[in-house]
Amino acid sequence: MKRIEDYVISIPDFPEPGVIFRDVTGILEDADGLQLAVDLMQERIKDVDFDIIVGPESRGFIFGVPLAYNLHKPFIPVRKAGKLPRETAAVEYALEYGTGTLEIHKESIKPGQRVVIIDDLIATGGTNKGIIKLVEELGGVVVKAVFLMELKGLKGREKLKGYDVESVIQYEGN
Ligand code: PRP
Ligand code: MG
Repeated sequence: MKRIEDYVISIPDFPEPGVIFRDVTGILEDADGLQLAVDLMQERIKDVDFDIIVGPESRGFIFGVPLAYNLHKPFIPVRKAGKLPRETAAVEYALEYGTGTLEIHKESIKPGQRVVIIDDLIATGGTNKGIIKLVEELGGVVVKAVFLMELKGLKGREKLKGYDVESVIQYEGN
């Protein structure tokens, strides 16, 4: 049987020289790979007491929605600026070069609700630090963040210090 790592296609020098891109589409295009990825992420939250899954556009949707479906929880999307039609809360977050803006519907999280964050990857941690800020601004409590992959060399985990962070696959470098 293949391990989850075996489905990830590593592409050297993409999107720029020196970077190894860990391509999640290799998992998605194999039915066993997709099922295994969802199962392994679900394993890490199945005993967690929570109300809502929050996941960022776009790769966070891929894994966040099946987990929400399987565990019968709501899925709340975080989107890049200008996409959500109702009143939003926004946060600027750090990208490798410069910054971006993420938004969430203001009324989508009620104070005290317990939130699990799901994304495909933690690299620098900038995206998910921004998401935590949004969730907390709306009064939500982040109880766990689960990533399919972690690029340990970029030390994203340090940006999320104090939070329960888990990843399924770890890569030592960047
Ligand atoms: C990628 C990835 C994570 C984020 C991780 O998303 O899907 O969300 O980067 O990087 P970080 O830990 O350094 O913030 P990207 O912004 O490329 O957009 P996408 O999901 O729409 O492809
Ligand atoms: Mg993403």
